[in-house]
Amino acid sequence: MMSDRLGSLEREAMARLAAVDTEEALARWQRGYLGRHGAVTDAVKAVGTLPPEERPAYGRRANEIKRALEAAYEARAIALEREQEARRLAADALDVTLPSRPAGLGRLHPVTAIMRRMRSAFAQMGFQVYSGREVETEEYNFTLLNMPPYHPARDSHDTFYAAQPGMVLRTHTSPAQVRAMRERGAPLRVVVPGACFRYDQPDASHNFQFHQMEGLAVGRSIRMGDLLGAITGFARQLFGEGAQLRFRAHYFPFTEPSIETDLRCTVCAGAGCRLCKDSGWVETIPGGMVHPEVLRNGGIDPARHTGFAFGAGVDRIAALWYGIPDIRLLLENDVRFLGQF
Ligand code: DAH
Repeated sequence: MMSDRLGSLEREAMARLAAVDTEEALARWQRGYLGRHGAVTDAVKAVGTLPPEERPAYGRRANEIKRALEAAYEARAIALEREQEARRLAADALDVTLPSRPAGLGRLHPVTAIMRRMRSAFAQMGFQVYSGREVETEEYNFTLLNMPPYHPARDSHDTFYAAQPGMVLRTHTSPAQVRAMRERGAPLRVVVPGACFRYDQPDASHNFQFHQMEGLAVGRSIRMGDLLGAITGFARQLFGEGAQLRFRAHYFPFTEPSIETDLRCTVCAGAGCRLCKDSGWVETIPGGMVHPEVLRNGGIDPARHTGFAFGAGVDRIAALWYGIPDIRLLLENDVRFLGQF
């Protein structure tokens, strides 16, 4: 009678143990049957309440069941741990045969790429690369370029002045002309690529940071035709033999005479757009014959040498080359935009 109850307790405990599938359920099962107040523990203790003649058989049977359940518990605990381990492994299994995600490939910034093309076009004409300074003295940026203090042309430059007196962020690459002449003397052929800065109102063809490639050739008999030839050769090298360009008379304090070069707008093919301000042409390469005063400031005798200079607008050339309608896009550095080139 009592041992029947023990038998059904054992069957029930075994059945529940088999259904246990988490550590918490296992702990609950352990408390419920084998814990200090568990059903099996109680059943073992109940031996004291039996008539003496039933006690030995009951006690033996109860202890057997207790040991059997303890062993089953241990076994279930180990099995459960294995199952969980197996589930964990299955969950974060790595399929090493899956193709990997493509690694993002870096590429040259369009301004850098165009600068390199420009550099090599001018290298073919014998120009070496000379590095100017982004932080310049007012003297090199203006005075030595024939713009003394209070010269009205300084106003057109919207200059960022540095905290240190007499220092500016260069507004153009032209100050490197005098540095190159002083350092290297004549004859000389250099290009100076780099960033320039102006406190300017940004629009499709202007930005507060932009890039120029200055060119300077000084020699015994350099003439305007050489400048026009160099610019035409460069434009054809970059944009092909059919490149359309036009020259206009202009004024710069550091060249005399001075010109402006317009390139046909490739964004709208001349039909009109914001880059060319609906004119069909983009001002791209100003230049001229180096002013005698500037040659003198570079330590070169204008009676013996002449020179031409130009200051190509790299961002506009990049815009024309890639068909970008607004140079501001170049410096926003949105990688989704830059990734297209
Ligand atoms: N430095 C001028 C500017 O940024 C551009 C320029 C004009 C450069 C004529 C030259 C030049 O070398 O000869 O507005």
